[in-house]
Amino acid sequence: MNTIFKGDSINKGARILANMIKDSGITVILTGAGMDTESNIPDFRGRDGWWKNIDPRQVASIYTFDRDYPLFHEFYSMRIKILEGVEPHEGHYILADLEKKGLIDSIATQNVSGLHSRAGSNNVYELHGNIRTIRCNQCNNEGKLEDFLAGKDCSFCNNKALRPNVVLFGEALPMDAWSRAEEDIKKSQLLIIIGTSLEVYPVSYLPILTKGKIVLINNEDVNANYEFDIKLIGKAGEILKELDKYIA
Ligand code: APR
Repeated sequence: MNTIFKGDSINKGARILANMIKDSGITVILTGAGMDTESNIPDFRGRDGWWKNIDPRQVASIYTFDRDYPLFHEFYSMRIKILEGVEPHEGHYILADLEKKGLIDSIATQNVSGLHSRAGSNNVYELHGNIRTIRCNQCNNEGKLEDFLAGKDCSFCNNKALRPNVVLFGEALPMDAWSRAEEDIKKSQLLIIIGTSLEVYPVSYLPILTKGKIVLINNEDVNANYEFDIKLIGKAGEILKELDKYIA
């Protein structure tokens, strides 16, 4: 189909998507940073994204962690501090409500903010980890967020190796989250992809696994090597609010 809805036709697209959700037995949501920008968290490749001015492999790789800990620490401390006072927006709550109504089964997210869980979603697979929890890269013991921010050494092994539990470039994804997302998407009759450029492997590969319909909600069109049944081009929060009118 690959029908695109935007501007005045968003309303019609939202109505069609609501019917697709009601007709679907298993619906999975896949989100990226575009799901969090309306909570004032920058995305990465959008107009004002992190990677517009910073080379990700310079600051967000295991190489940087090993070779330039002060730079790594500065970048992640800044990203953690940005989260202070950040709250889920209405779109997060609508997705949590759809789960409560039994209309969506799970959310696989690339986001490390924890906002889906904070909005009340239970089945959330954090494919790129969570920035709010800390561990020691040397002894793998849990660390305190305040100790990481203060640049302290690990209190167990005394190494300067505290880091957030996020997946760095060059690291493997968490197996449990990945396998559960893979399993759900394989079973899904509807996969709704929200707020991601689909530029980062292996998450960009996940949608190929579904035998069901694929829908995109994004504020710009994306290139993918698979077909979308419909695309709703616009802000995630606004489109989810429109969708909610036809679900209630
Ligand atoms: N509503 C809808 N779409 C939006 C919104 C919004 N309010 N804000 C931004 N977008 C779109 C952007 O236009 C872009 O297409 O969301 C997409 C976000 O893409 P990226 O910034 O590439 O983020 P993401 O796809 O999640 O990146 C994947 O890359 O750097 C790594 O680990 C990082 O998890 C991240 C991964």
